Amino acid sequence: MTEQTSPAYAGPARVLSGVKPTGDLHLGNYLGALVKFTRMQHEAETFIFVADLHAITEWQEPAKLTAQTREIAAAYLAAGLDPKIATIFPQSAVTEHAELAWIFNCVARVGWLDRMTQFKDKSGKNKEKASVGLYTYPVLQAADILLYKATHVPVGDDQKQHVELTRDIAAKFNHDFDAPGYFPLPEPIHQGVGARIMSLRDASEKMSKSNPSDAARINLTDDADAVAQKIRKAKTDALPLPETPDELKDRPEAQNLIGIYAALDGRTAAEVLTEFAGQGFGAFKPKLADLAVAKLGPVTEAMRGFMADPAEIDRILAAGAERAREVAAPTLRQVKKLVGFWGD
Ligand code: TYM
Repeated sequence: MTEQTSPAYAGPARVLSGVKPTGDLHLGNYLGALVKFTRMQHEAETFIFVADLHAITEWQEPAKLTAQTREIAAAYLAAGLDPKIATIFPQSAVTEHAELAWIFNCVARVGWLDRMTQFKDKSGKNKEKASVGLYTYPVLQAADILLYKATHVPVGDDQKQHVELTRDIAAKFNHDFDAPGYFPLPEPIHQGVGARIMSLRDASEKMSKSNPSDAARINLTDDADAVAQKIRKAKTDALPLPETPDELKDRPEAQNLIGIYAALDGRTAAEVLTEFAGQGFGAFKPKLADLAVAKLGPVTEAMRGFMADPAEIDRILAAGAERAREVAAPTLRQVKKLVGFWGD
């Protein structure tokens, strides 16, 4: 892990991240986030939550929200998060998140939020009808991170801007309340081949839960046939694969599929191209499908196993929430004192 950059911060390294329970998890979530969570749990104290407070910034069917919260927890476990090592919990079960978010709403500036691209993308032309929560979403995200004084935040590329905003909020809080180094300035861990997986139908868009076309993404719940079929039908071009990643620059579909192969196999794009240079997609796609099925099949199966025992998932989430509160509550108490609220 890289050194965190708040010179006055003297606390331990901590990892924190989360995923919204808003639909099927896809390959982008898996490679951009879950794989990194699993690796990083061995590098520092790790907090991984289900971002249900963030989920309701857009309408969620209540019963579905509960089921999907368990499903995300099952995916965490299936991807290899170990509840004995990492703290896994539902965000809404630790009410300190919402309370700190309010205080940060009063630290963050409207101008900062106006620059957030996710709000622009999600609210689209209908900004007036978007929830206020969707607008202040990144402030809640800053609260998630700083409540645990997290120093490293594993995320996909699309979340980098939110972690940068978190740094701005941390720095302004430390300055305004004369508490140098109180909050660390967290680092987004967004680099690497899996950080930006694109749609299989249109490589100018990222793979996302909200794309209306299921063929655009590989879901963690897809069976082997569905995975192979989606890869077979993925949009490509007619040229053979080149020798170097530089030559993929103007070939977004090819770049995406090579990136997926590399991320699944734990290799660089250059290494993958060394193996496939000169071959066409007719040869490459079946290899990619085999690899995807081999890597994702066991995760899908493990996820089904965990989902078959919701009581066990609930036990893990409840124990995680209790542990998370042990860290969150003292931070919020100190923050309230720094702000000058009445009380101990
Ligand atoms: P969510 O649920 O939208 O996405 C979860 C994670 O998956 C990553 N991701 C991708 N990575 C690579 N390629 C893609 N196509 C792709 N699509 C999604 C996201 O970058 C993310 O890491 N705001 C967060 C949830 C959150 C959070 C936090 C994260 C709430 N509080 C605090 C970190 C720290 C989100 O959008 O999740």
